[in-house]
Amino acid sequence: MFSPPMRGVIIKDPNLQSSNQDQVEESILFAEPTEYVSELSWINSLDTYKEMYQRSIEDPEGFWAEQAEEFLYWKEPWSKVLEWDFEDPHFSWFVGGKTNVSYNCIDRHLHDGRRNKAAFIWESDERHSKVYTYQSLYTRVCRLSNVLKSYGIGKGDVVAIFLPMVPEIVFAMLACARIGAIHTIIFSGFSAEALRDRLQQSHAKVLITADSGLRGGRINPLKNMADAALLECPEIQKVIVVSRLQQRINMEPGRDVYYHEEVARKDIKRHCDIEWVDAEHPLFILYTSGSTGRPKGVVHTTGGYLLGTSITFKYIFDTHEDDVYFCTADAGWITGHSYLVYGPLSLGVTSVLFEGVPTYPDAGRFWDIIERHGVNQFYTAPTAIRSLMRHGSELPLSYDLSSLRVLGSVGEPINPAAWKWFYRVVGKERCSIADTWWQTETGMHMITTLPGIMTMKSSAAGLPFFGVQPIVITSEQKEAEIGEDGHLCMKYPWPSIARGFWDEVDNTRFKETYFSPFPGYYFTGDAAMKDEDGYYWLKGRVDDMLNVSGHRLGTAEIEAALNSSPDVAESAVVSFPHDIKGEGIYAYIVLKDGIVASDDLPARLSGLIRLKIGPIARPDVIHVVDELPKTRSGKLMRRILRKIASGTTDIKELGDLSTLVDEDVVEMIIKSRPKVSSSGD
Ligand code: PRX
Repeated sequence: MFSPPMRGVIIKDPNLQSSNQDQVEESILFAEPTEYVSELSWINSLDTYKEMYQRSIEDPEGFWAEQAEEFLYWKEPWSKVLEWDFEDPHFSWFVGGKTNVSYNCIDRHLHDGRRNKAAFIWESDERHSKVYTYQSLYTRVCRLSNVLKSYGIGKGDVVAIFLPMVPEIVFAMLACARIGAIHTIIFSGFSAEALRDRLQQSHAKVLITADSGLRGGRINPLKNMADAALLECPEIQKVIVVSRLQQRINMEPGRDVYYHEEVARKDIKRHCDIEWVDAEHPLFILYTSGSTGRPKGVVHTTGGYLLGTSITFKYIFDTHEDDVYFCTADAGWITGHSYLVYGPLSLGVTSVLFEGVPTYPDAGRFWDIIERHGVNQFYTAPTAIRSLMRHGSELPLSYDLSSLRVLGSVGEPINPAAWKWFYRVVGKERCSIADTWWQTETGMHMITTLPGIMTMKSSAAGLPFFGVQPIVITSEQKEAEIGEDGHLCMKYPWPSIARGFWDEVDNTRFKETYFSPFPGYYFTGDAAMKDEDGYYWLKGRVDDMLNVSGHRLGTAEIEAALNSSPDVAESAVVSFPHDIKGEGIYAYIVLKDGIVASDDLPARLSGLIRLKIGPIARPDVIHVVDELPKTRSGKLMRRILRKIASGTTDIKELGDLSTLVDEDVVEMIIKSRPKVSSSGD
């Protein structure tokens, strides 16, 4: 019988003999799971995983029907498990079944003995914590649902949420779900213009926001931004304002109301009936970057989405009744939706909801939270790990992290040096690391290393989760060999697959993005390789998407923002390797005739990006060039620009340049390349 060791056994570290420290740190490491993790694992052996996986792909409908019975409460049964089509993409899971996400995440726990259990512990930026039980979550959500109903909001109406990480963000999501309204969260780091675009595209009727957000002691004036956005959003009828800092703010009579006053209204009841909705009823819209400037409103629905997040949450984080789970993501991203709110609450788990940043008041903040709340599962991103690593190991070693069992990583491939630090310093070589590969569009984890039973390979995401059928396809549309790089696709739908883009009637863009590049498959946009053990190694995006600190940004949207400057004739944005962010943003700029590159140009362009998109999209490098390299047919050669941004200075290493109009352009760009710091300084 498989019996894992107590401490992690390093079974391969090929470069350990090397004298080059960087090479040692970045060498691949394989580690076996420990008994410490495996003795509790829900999936108790690799053979059990294999059997369950085989079943899930041989009889997907049977498998998912059983899971749907086990994980969710259904008011009415479904008549058919799945209807799908990858050619004319549409997916319906649990057709005809009726359920409600709010009921599954709150009400059923009240009857299951979890009434007084902490649903979440809110940890404020100022280091205060407050516990919300399932009972208090119920009352707060019901009251807010009733407030929304009093404005005439009901099934199918869109409610926009522009909130920092305050408890009200969770209440708002669940209040919408309770009455069948569809929420769309706009990340509070976005700008007024980005907010305006998303409000307009979603046709939201209500906006829930705050006076300001507080992160790392810094104030983010959300209501001011909302006011600017709302000048062009006539469809918003009501604005509910959470008073986070009790600031004096502009309140538009008749439109703006305070959250705390509304939920305390005499006519607002503490109970709100559930609106039982169809399994395919939209739960939320989440805007993500696309290959054009216009963001894509990814739609997730009720039954399949909740099943996907619930089952993965249980098995991948291996959560048990008394565990405390801590996910550092912001609720404004998909990770926050699936693994801060819906996954944990559907299982009745206790989570930490953290308002602040990892480095405030100092770089020990995460470790302090883990120690004080006894966190068992900790889910974060490689960029956060790298930024904390820079502060050395003394800080994490000075805290008691012994409650930790499972460490999760998400957002980008985790580089071996960060993986090892996470494994050794944070996980004490006994915790399992679950690298989780997934996307906004997949809704749930797709490829991972299940804790306690799977060998961990630093930088490989791992094996497919139940029901997930990946395939790597080459540019020649053939299945890649083992060890060969190709495009990561999926052969079969999973319950939480995105159903389309909001407000795009014929869904052409949805089809073109995911289903046309490799007919018959869902295309992820990622490059990957499968090894001889069936593990998938992710190699980054193959499209014009950047992955900056684990956040997906489209080059097109950054270029559109830069091109809106009166000084800029043309721009091209590419990524370059960045020690902390994973990928940095490198912008090539061609100025308009007669404009000279002044010293304040970079600051002005950065300010413009901040205004149009938000601080996360600000370029790390602005490189003014005379011309951009183009082919005779006028196509921009990004491949060349990426190589130069990454430090290639030898023109011979740039590959075939024969299709270029003018090779001298490339030479000039190389010569004028500024010195680039990729250390995050
Ligand atoms: O390129 C992959 C990368 O992030 C992309 C999805 O971005 P987004 O929809 O914003 O969702 C991020 C959080 C789920 C993917 O196409 N990515 C995400 N997780 C990983 C990853 N790349 C490698 N390993 C991961 N664990």
